[in-house]
Amino acid sequence: MSSVTVLRRGHAVLVTLDRPDRRNALDRATVAELGRLGRELSVDASVRAVVLTGAGDRAFCAGADLKERESMSLDDVRAMLDSYRSELTWLGAAPFPVVAALNGAALGGGLELALTCDLRVAAPHAVLGLPETSLAIVPGAGGTQRLPRLVGYARALELILLGRRLSATEALAFGLINRVTPGGADLVEDTLAWLAPLLDGSPTAMRAALSAVRAAQTLPLDAGLDAERRAYEACLASDDRREALRAFAEKRKPVFRGP
Ligand code: COA
Repeated sequence: MSSVTVLRRGHAVLVTLDRPDRRNALDRATVAELGRLGRELSVDASVRAVVLTGAGDRAFCAGADLKERESMSLDDVRAMLDSYRSELTWLGAAPFPVVAALNGAALGGGLELALTCDLRVAAPHAVLGLPETSLAIVPGAGGTQRLPRLVGYARALELILLGRRLSATEALAFGLINRVTPGGADLVEDTLAWLAPLLDGSPTAMRAALSAVRAAQTLPLDAGLDAERRAYEACLASDDRREALRAFAEKRKPVFRGP
C-alpha cells in the first residue's frame, strides 16, 4: 500500500503523506515514493503548484520514522541521509512552487521537509520544531542550512540548540511560515484559495519568477541580476505577455494559457 496519495485539483496537485498511525513519519518507502513522484510531476507541464500535506490532523510529519530507525545500521542511516537529498530536493527546485500545508506537528525531518518546500501554510494548532539535538543528533535533511537562510542565524540557533517548539502564530512571527489558516477553515481548501492568483496567472511568468527568486537564495547580486534578465527574456516573446497587453487595452481579465 502506498504511503503517499496524489489528487489532481485542476492545475494543482495535492500530495498527502498517508501514514497517520505513525504520524506520517518518513520511512525509506515514503522517501522513495516522494522522489518518484517528484520526477513524474516535474516533467508534467500541466502542473502549476503542488500542495504537500499529511493525513489526519495530528501531524504533518513527525520526522524520521524512529521505529524503522531503531533497526538500521549506521550505513543504513547514512544511505537514508543521502536519499533525503536525492529524493526530496525537488520540493524546492521543481518548475512549479511546492507549498507545505501543515495540518499538525512538523517536527524534525517533518519541519525539514516543509523547509525544502517554497512556501508554508499552517493550521492554527500546528507545532513546529527541530528536536534533533535532544536525540543527540543534528538535523540531517537540510535543516541547519535552510532554516538560517529563511529566518536568520539567531532564530535558527534558538530552534536547533534550545529545541524550542513554535506554535503556528509564533512561526508566522518568525517568518518560518507564510500564513495561518483562519480557525475552522479547511487547511487544503484555504491553501488552494490563497494560491488562486498563482493558479490563474500566467504559467510562463510564474515559472520565470520562481526561478529568478530562487536564484536570489544562492547567487551573488550580479549573477542574480543575470538570472532575473534570463527570466524576463523567457516572458518577453510569450503569448501570455501579448494576451496581458491586449486584455489591458480591452479592459478585460486576461486568459493565460502558458507556453
Ligand atoms: N516515528 C515513528 N512513529 C512515530 C513517530 C515517529 N517519528 N512519531 C509518532 N509515532 C507513533 C507513536 O510511536 C505512536 O505509535 P503507537 O500508537 O504504536 O504507540 C503513534 O505514532 C502516535 O504517537 P503519539 O505520540 O501518541 O501521537 P500524538 O498525536 O499525541 O503526538 C507528535 C504527535 C508528532 C507530537 C508526537 O508523536 C511526537 O512528538 N513524535 C516524535 C517527534 C520526533 O521527535 N521526531 C523525530 C525528530 S528527529
